[in-house]
Amino acid sequence: MRRRSALQLVLIGLVAGGAAVAVALLIPWLPKPASKEAHRIDVVFWFVIGICIAIFAIVVAMIAYSVLHFRARPDDDTDGPPIHGHTGLEIAWTLVPTVLVTAIGVLSAVVLSQDDHAGKHPFRIHVTAVQFAWSFNYPEAGNAQSELLRLPLGRSVLLDLTAPGDNAVIHSFWVPEFGQKQDVVPGLHPTLHITPNRLGTFPIICAELCGLGHGLMRSQVIVMTKTAFDRWLASQKKGAAPATTTAAPPSQSSGLGASVFASNGCGSCHTLTAAHAIGKVGPDLDQLAAEAKRAGKPLDAFIRESIVDPNVYVEKGFPKGVMPPTFGKTLSKQQLDALVQYLAKNGG
Ligand code: CUA
Repeated sequence: MRRRSALQLVLIGLVAGGAAVAVALLIPWLPKPASKEAHRIDVVFWFVIGICIAIFAIVVAMIAYSVLHFRARPDDDTDGPPIHGHTGLEIAWTLVPTVLVTAIGVLSAVVLSQDDHAGKHPFRIHVTAVQFAWSFNYPEAGNAQSELLRLPLGRSVLLDLTAPGDNAVIHSFWVPEFGQKQDVVPGLHPTLHITPNRLGTFPIICAELCGLGHGLMRSQVIVMTKTAFDRWLASQKKGAAPATTTAAPPSQSSGLGASVFASNGCGSCHTLTAAHAIGKVGPDLDQLAAEAKRAGKPLDAFIRESIVDPNVYVEKGFPKGVMPPTFGKTLSKQQLDALVQYLAKNGG
C-alpha cells in the first residue's frame, strides 16, 4: 500500500514537472543572447527556473495525491486526526530553502561581478538620453555622434549614460538581446558593460516611463565585425561634419539637415513626411508654414527659435516644456543652419 502511494506521488510529480519543462523549453521566452553578459544572466535564469520546476512538481504531486486520498466523503462529519508538529519535516523545509536561496544568491553575485568586469581598456561610448531619443558619442573618434549605436564584435564596451538638462527625467537603456537594463538617472553617471558576441541589429528600448513619447524612444544597436567597425570609426574621425550616420551624403546641406534630423531623434516626436517620420508627441512639421503664420514670425526665424528656445512659442494643443531645450547647445552652427534649411524646405 505504502509503495503504491509513493509510486503515485512520484508519477504525478513527473507528469507535472514534465509539463512545466515543456512549457519552459518549447516556448521561446528569452531572446537569443548577443553578449557574453546575457549568456551568464541566462545561466542564472535557467538555474532559478530549474529549482522552481522541481518545487512546482513536488507541490502539485502532494496536492493531487491529497485530493485523491484524503477527500472527506459527503456523509463524513468527523474531525480529522489530531496532529501536532513534525520535527524532521520542519528542519527539512527550513534547510532546503536556505540552501537554495543561498545558492541563487552566490551564483547571482558571481555573475554580476563578472558582467561588470570591463577590464583595463574598455571601448567607451557616451550615451545621451533625452525626451525622447537616444544619441551616441564616440570619444575615441573625435566625439563623432550617431543615432544608431555601433559596437565591435567581441570587444569589451563600456557605455557612460547621462540624461542632461535641467528638466531631465529618468530613462532606462535596454537591449533585450544583451540581457541588461540600466536606469539613466539625471545627475548620476551610471555605466553599462557589454561584450557583444553575435553580429546583427538589435532594438534599443527605453524601459522607464519618461513621458508622452516613451513608447517611441527607440533606436538600434548594430554589432559589426572588428574590421567593419574600425573602418566606420576611421570614416567618422576623418568625416569633417559629425552627426553623419545616415545614408544621406553630408556634403550637401539638405543631406546634412536630413541627417541631423535623423540623428537627433526628431522623428520620434514629430511628423515629417520628407523624413518618413510619424511622431505625434510634438507639432506636425509638415505644417510648419501655417504654424509660423500663427506665431506671427518669418518661417526661418520661427524654425530656428523653436529649436533653440522651444518654449517661446508652443503650438496650441501641445504642452510646454516637452521639447528638450538643449539643441541650441548640442548642435553646431553648421548643423543648426542645415536643419533649419531642411525644415523650411520640407515643412512648408
Ligand atoms: Cu525614455 Cu521612456
